[in-house]
Amino acid sequence: MQRLEISDLITAVDPHSGRRLPVRRSEVVARLRAGGDRRAAGIVAGLPVDGDGVFDPRAVDRLLIGVHTELQRLSEELRMGERLVQVLGPLFTAIRAAGGRSGPYRLVDVGCGLGYLIRWLAATGALGADVELVGVDLDAALVGEAGRLAAAEGLDCRFVHGNAFALPKTATVFVSTGVLHHFRGPALGRFFQAQAASPADAFCHFDIAANRLAPLGAWIYHRARMRHPLGRHDGVVSARRAHSDETLLRAAGTAGIRPLLYEPGGTANPFCTTLRPVIGVRPQLEAPFRSALGRDARRLVGPEHLAPATR
Ligand SMILES: C[S@@+](CC[C@H](N)C(=O)[O-])C[C@H]1O[C@@H](n2cnc3c(N)ncnc32)[C@H](O)[C@@H]1O
Repeated sequence: MQRLEISDLITAVDPHSGRRLPVRRSEVVARLRAGGDRRAAGIVAGLPVDGDGVFDPRAVDRLLIGVHTELQRLSEELRMGERLVQVLGPLFTAIRAAGGRSGPYRLVDVGCGLGYLIRWLAATGALGADVELVGVDLDAALVGEAGRLAAAEGLDCRFVHGNAFALPKTATVFVSTGVLHHFRGPALGRFFQAQAASPADAFCHFDIAANRLAPLGAWIYHRARMRHPLGRHDGVVSARRAHSDETLLRAAGTAGIRPLLYEPGGTANPFCTTLRPVIGVRPQLEAPFRSALGRDARRLVGPEHLAPATR
C-alpha cells in the first residue's frame, strides 16, 4: 500500500483560483487509517479543528511553516545551493552560448516552500546578475513567509503565490527540490508536459534518489534533526515514494524535450547521493550544456542508457 504524506492531506487549494479549501480532519484520519498508517492517523487526530471538524487554517499554516523551517536545515546540510549551481551554472552558460534569446533570464522555483534556494542564490549571486530569481508556491502561508524572509535579508528575488505554470511571464528554466514525488501516476507526466508546452528552455528538478538506503537514511536524519512528528513521518514517506530513474526519464521525455538524469543510481555512491536532478533541455541545448559541464558531463545519462526492458 502506497503511504501518504500528511502535509499533502491537511491543506487543499484550488489550483486555478488559488483559493484555500476547507479540509475535514475526520476524512484525513479515515484515509490514513484505510491506508494502514495508524501512526499518521494519530498525528492528524491531534491537530486542532473548528466546531465543524474543519482544520484550523492558522494552526495548519503555523505547523507547516515550522516543519519547513526544519526542512531548510536539511537543504543547508546537504549543501543544496552548491549542488544546484553545479548543474544550473552550466545550463545558463549553455543558454547564453546558444544565443536563441538574450537576457535577462528567469529561474522559477516550482513549489519553493520557504524559498531557501532562491534566497541562497540571491544572497550568493551564484548564477549571475542576468538571472532573475522567482519562487512560486500554491501555499499562500509558505510563500508569504519566503517573501518576508527575503525582505528581512534584503535580497533581490521575488516570491509569488500561485501556479508556477500560469505566470504572466514564463520561466527560462524551471527548477524544484523535493517536489517530484508528490506527483503520482499521470500527474507526473502532466507536470513535465506543462513545462514542455511552455517557452522555457529547460528544467532541472531535484528529488530524493530512489535507492535501498534512502528510507533508512531519511529515518536516521529525521529522527536526529526534526522535532515535529509530522516532519519525521513525511520525511521517511517521501524517501519511500521517491520515483525510480526509469520513471523520471520516461515521464520527463515529452515532445520537444531531451530528458537527462544526473548521477543515476548505480553510478554514484548511494551514501552520498541523496537528491539528484532529472533535467530536460531543448534538443539544441544538449551539446552546449555537456560542453559547459566539462568532466561532470560523464554523470549525465539519457533514456538510451536504461536497461532495454525499462526503456
Ligand atoms: C514539499 S513542498 C516543497 C518545498 C520546497 N521546495 C523545499 O524544498 O522546502 C511542495 C510544494 O509544492 C507546491 N506546488 C505543487 N505544485 C505547484 C505548482 N504547480 N505551482 C506552485 N507550487 C506548487 C505545494 O504547494 C507545496 O508547498
